[in-house]
Amino acid sequence: MDFKEHIIDKLQELTGLEREAIEKAVETPPDEKLGDLAFPCFPLAKVMRKAPPIIAQELKEQLSSDETIAQVDAVGGYLNFFFNKAMFISDTVTAARKAGEDWGKSEMGNGKTVLVEYSSPNIAKPFHIGHLFSTAVGNSLARIYKFLGYDVESLNHLGDWGTQFGKLISAYKRWGDAKLIEKDPINELLKIYVKFHEEAEKDPSLEDEAREYFKKLEDGDAETTELWKYFKDQSLVEFKRVYDMLGVSFDSYNGEAFYSDKMDEVVDMLRTADILTESEGAQVVDLSDMNMPPCIILKSDGATIYATRDIAAALYRHRTYNFDKNIYVVGLPQSLHFRQIFETMKRAGWEWSKDCHHVGFGLVKLPGKSMSTRHGDVVFLEDVLNESIEKTRSIIENNGANVDDIDDVSKKIGIGAILYTFLKNSREKDIVFSWDTMLDFDGESAPYCMYGYARGKSILRRAEGIDYSTADLTKAVSDDAYTLVKLINSFGDAVADAADKNEPFYVNRYVTGLVKAFNKFYNTNPIMRDDVDEETKKARLAIVDATCTVIKSALYLLGIEVVESM
Ligand code: ARG
Repeated sequence: MDFKEHIIDKLQELTGLEREAIEKAVETPPDEKLGDLAFPCFPLAKVMRKAPPIIAQELKEQLSSDETIAQVDAVGGYLNFFFNKAMFISDTVTAARKAGEDWGKSEMGNGKTVLVEYSSPNIAKPFHIGHLFSTAVGNSLARIYKFLGYDVESLNHLGDWGTQFGKLISAYKRWGDAKLIEKDPINELLKIYVKFHEEAEKDPSLEDEAREYFKKLEDGDAETTELWKYFKDQSLVEFKRVYDMLGVSFDSYNGEAFYSDKMDEVVDMLRTADILTESEGAQVVDLSDMNMPPCIILKSDGATIYATRDIAAALYRHRTYNFDKNIYVVGLPQSLHFRQIFETMKRAGWEWSKDCHHVGFGLVKLPGKSMSTRHGDVVFLEDVLNESIEKTRSIIENNGANVDDIDDVSKKIGIGAILYTFLKNSREKDIVFSWDTMLDFDGESAPYCMYGYARGKSILRRAEGIDYSTADLTKAVSDDAYTLVKLINSFGDAVADAADKNEPFYVNRYVTGLVKAFNKFYNTNPIMRDDVDEETKKARLAIVDATCTVIKSALYLLGIEVVESM
């Protein structure tokens, strides 16, 4: 039974108020000591022509015999409810164990499609830490929406088109070495790209050459297309290695190039909507009434740009998926770009543009020299991941912990630690990477949460042979058990909040709190100790079992994989 719903039912019966009004009014008191649920009687004063404290007193008397309520206090104009703990624990744990990995799931998304675009690195450029931030947030959001019943499409809008490819082709033809590129593709391509810029400083004719090549590419010339494809394939091999490490996958890799033949239509549509104006030879959408610079659609040489490709992509997505939400997980520096294109789409009369959302995130500061890299100044993501795994391994070895497969455990913890860090705070906050915080097994970190899970599993392993499937949960009543079970009960709410705000950190904060409550629970409620009677033992084991399932599900939603022992 849902205790909150039940009390709302009762209040509705007794007061005759609209259900929605009661739902809105009930609140969770800030301090557990004040009760599990509070209802302010002030809105009733007018209708009932009585002072709120008197109404509260009357309702208290009518409600106190309800078996789900252990105690109800009338304080001032408020009713404070204390649930029947034994019933609450019993109901919740039984339901959670029955649902298993489905606990917390919902049907709110059924029949609705959410697109989550994330990661979107640029071909022949390093996958940098900002792309990792996007990957962590986007992957988590995709999992969260799926959990809530939505159809989710994960999209990787690769940066694989634009004038820079003309430069790269020119650079490759001058200095490219296929052997070196195959060994270390992105690093080598980056090297010749940098060299191109250096040389072009001295000899500006290189820029013209690059423009020629890009023009050829746009016109579908075979040789340049071949080269472009080669750069893309080489880059993807490297990106996919990182995605494999992270356990991330995409339903579509349609990048900017995919839209290159879909832009004429967009330009026509914008022209028909009569929102294109000419400015210094370029075709733009004037947004000065919104205090924004114009959205450039066609450059003076007729070339389309990033914004045009994004508008074509949005239109394509609308037609292909008929989405309820189209989410872009892209850094905050691109806020203006998204405001410009969304506004342009609105002016084009595309009603669905209101369902496009830029989900931005802050900057990542790396701790100076402590981030090693085999590539000089550029921090390569794969190096960061590997460093985290190595550091984890040495922590485990120094602790003398006994783990079966240290490679697997270090990898899961090392990667989990990084993902957790990106999802720890509201995404718009900047992040300072610190190995000490990230890998602090006692602090708010992935290893801390993963350890909580492994600890629970080790208790359950020791209990092998004990059948707690029909445990009498009323035997487990205690303050710490109650706090823990209340959290188990609110898992679904945390996930729904995360989706509502596109903020995975709600789930992160939730699971960290759950593990804290779990640690307290098993410290004050001994489980496998000899002096614990069988019935109590079984009841507590059932709570441990339910907790482990929820920790695992919540960490999964953050992209973090648990380990059974560590
Ligand atoms: N490739 C871009 C970059 O690295 C990000 C793409 C963001 N997505 C989009 N639809 N514009 O900055």
